[in-house]
Amino acid sequence: METTAAVLTVAASPGCTPRLLGEAGHRREDFAAYRALGGYHPLASAKDLLDEVETSGLLGRGGAGFPLAIKLRSVRDNGRVAGGCVVVANGEEGEPASIKDRWLLRNRPHLVLDGLRLAAAIVAAERAYVYVSDPDSARSVETALSELDSSSLRIGIDLWTVEPGYVAGEETAAVRAINGGPAKPTDKPPRPFELGVGDRPTLVSNVETLANLPFLQRHGSAAFRSQGTTLSPGTFLATITGAGRAAGLYELPHGLPFTELLALHGISSEQVRGALLGGYFAGLLNRTVLDTTLDHETMRRFGSGLGCGAVSVITDDCPVAVAASVLAYFDRENAGQCGSCFNGTAAMAAVAGALRDSVATTKDLDRLRRWSVVLRGRGACATLDAATNVAASLLNQFPDEVARHLAGACVDCLSRTGGAFRADRPYEAEAVRHP
Ligand SMILES: Cc1cc2nc3c(=O)[nH]c(=O)nc-3n(C[C@H](O)[C@H](O)[C@H](O)COP(=O)(O)O)c2cc1C
Ligand code: SF4
Repeated sequence: METTAAVLTVAASPGCTPRLLGEAGHRREDFAAYRALGGYHPLASAKDLLDEVETSGLLGRGGAGFPLAIKLRSVRDNGRVAGGCVVVANGEEGEPASIKDRWLLRNRPHLVLDGLRLAAAIVAAERAYVYVSDPDSARSVETALSELDSSSLRIGIDLWTVEPGYVAGEETAAVRAINGGPAKPTDKPPRPFELGVGDRPTLVSNVETLANLPFLQRHGSAAFRSQGTTLSPGTFLATITGAGRAAGLYELPHGLPFTELLALHGISSEQVRGALLGGYFAGLLNRTVLDTTLDHETMRRFGSGLGCGAVSVITDDCPVAVAASVLAYFDRENAGQCGSCFNGTAAMAAVAGALRDSVATTKDLDRLRRWSVVLRGRGACATLDAATNVAASLLNQFPDEVARHLAGACVDCLSRTGGAFRADRPYEAEAVRHP
């Protein structure tokens, strides 16, 4: 597969004291540098830290925004009954247009490992894994593990690598892979917190989620909540792509106006036609995206989602071409296990492709609308939800563009100025920190 290599701008928003990007600039932070910042601080009480996680309101950064404290308590309690449990740092980053997890693993591997050992201590895990597909991340973690002394880490951590794939980062796919199977989702229940790696209750947490734990340990939940909103506390890493610019990775407080992220990345609001949100998961928003703020509650109110924090800005591209490209991606990248998913994504991709090429009929569109409702919630994982989000949001958010395509008169696509958007993975970028 072709790789898009470009320079990545890395920065925190003005007034945001970075907790995740750290001070390391574009150089990888080694053990000594991380220790000098207070890393691997001895944990006095796992119970107190769990209480801090709970009052911090820390939400998972892997896409669903689920409260970490609830997962920690479930795994700890289930582990007591089962006689042990496991923790997994999910760094697979299957979501296209996102580069935050790879950036953390490549540049701040000790921050992630520190978070992982704290999570392991809270749930009293017997084993921990870092689950990745990116070779640079794997090398960085391997080096970090070799730098550690036994006083820093009281648990064995294994690195687990898989082939990259959209579904490979889904939590049951991660568990299945570590158990020796293919990196493809399994039916739920059981969920990993009930039965996971080695048939033990397993915490699968995104690497950015875990990277927040060392801050919480050292500074507490009130300091954690000093940035962000009440319902989406703390800072997060946003990957911004599109608008013909190289990508950006920004640490932002939740609740920052979308327009401020655009300004930070040098994109004029005038240019913006809409955006694809939450990686490819949450679908499209039209120019109303300019009225949003970057937090879970606001994005939900607008009928979209923040997901893993990846934002693709649509300027010159035609939204119909963008949706067709993303649906074709789901058709290619689904795991081919569930009939509703491989047939459903293929059918939706075919109609969206025909619409882009201005050969779709109103009957085709009726079918697409129906599928975008009835296929929701089907399949072993949420890939069909992502595909139906994209199809439904195209129809709801861009009715004029859809009508123009039905009439065979989309100027952007006919003149080929639009349609350049290419849904693909892996997304690749060389990181450079701007002062
Ligand atoms: C198709 C699919 C792909 C996913 N890929 C990832 C991924 O690459 N990385 C990730 O952290 N979570 C991914 N998730 C979410 C995980 O299933 C899981 O919710 C997450 O790792 C939990 O971490 P968190 O609670 O810290 O967000 C994916 C979910 C779906 C449905
Ligand atoms: S829903 Fe789709 S992507 Fe998910 S497991 Fe089934 S076939 Fe694979």
